[in-house]
Amino acid sequence: MRKLIIENHTQGEFPRPEIYPDKIKNNLIAEITVKNLTCRSQDLKYRFRIFTFAKVMSTDLLEPQVVELDNLNEHREIVTYMRRSAPLNTSQRTALEQYGHLILEYPVGDLRQHFEHPERPLTVEIGFGMGRSLVLMAKANPERNFVGIEVHIPGIAQCVYEAGMAELKNLRVLDADAIQVLREMPDNSINCVQLYFPDPWQKKRHFKRRFVIHERMQLVEQKLELGGTFHAATDWEPYAEWMLDILDNRPDMENLAGKGNSYPRPEWRPVTKFERRGLESGHKINDFIFKKIK
Ligand SMILES: C[S@@+](CC[C@H](N)C(=O)[O-])C[C@H]1O[C@@H](n2cnc3c(N)ncnc32)[C@H](O)[C@@H]1O
Repeated sequence: MRKLIIENHTQGEFPRPEIYPDKIKNNLIAEITVKNLTCRSQDLKYRFRIFTFAKVMSTDLLEPQVVELDNLNEHREIVTYMRRSAPLNTSQRTALEQYGHLILEYPVGDLRQHFEHPERPLTVEIGFGMGRSLVLMAKANPERNFVGIEVHIPGIAQCVYEAGMAELKNLRVLDADAIQVLREMPDNSINCVQLYFPDPWQKKRHFKRRFVIHERMQLVEQKLELGGTFHAATDWEPYAEWMLDILDNRPDMENLAGKGNSYPRPEWRPVTKFERRGLESGHKINDFIFKKIK
């Protein structure tokens, strides 16, 4: 019987024994102990999560291990996501091991350095969900590099499964808060930032969690190359108005559809899971493409 002990882990939600009860039932893991759940450090938590997942999900026998995560800094920033737990299906589970090379380990530094052709234009997608549209875009644009950033583990696993099956060389994914990753990127280094159907955070008290706020847009702009674009899409009308109000008032960005307008839905943007849901509910889709002009 194996025992996995995780010390000084960062937040209560991982590891989540309920996600792998079969392993516990089959005595592959006898016990999972999480000690000292105290602070919310993003960095170490993210770096560690995928590793643990892959280990726990694999059929290898685990040696008892104590993982020490020392020197955690308090991290109390408002985040733009909510973690949702869901079990992995078999292909997702396998994908984490088989195509693990497609997953970058946080911290990653300059995302461009992880590609065979680092000089190619880089697209970063924030919150790709299950990743289907990202994989299709990477497949359709082999002359570009793509990095998808997501915190939803089944989505990451599904995305690497599809990217791995398609033998894509120009796509990498990352389990991290996109904000942290952007901060580590050199300025003027990203050609396109994509934000498709971000959580709309409908309640007023949650508005500060919306990705599109001036402070976060300033970071996005700083990391975009001159002439690079920020492409957002939403099916939530109040968020569309909110986005337009913010983006049209960024002096360094130009609305490619003209001030006050949304961009006609580009046919090269594949329909996403959340977009389909929005359409089924009768929502209008708004795209916005803004170019960095200064
Ligand atoms: C509403 S879903 C949309 C998913 C996908 N783009 C689609 O259209 O189907 C928003 C996703 O963004 C992710 N997300 C939100 N903020 C994020 C952040 N700061 N870093 C990484 N992922 C984030 C969430 O985990 C969630 O999966």
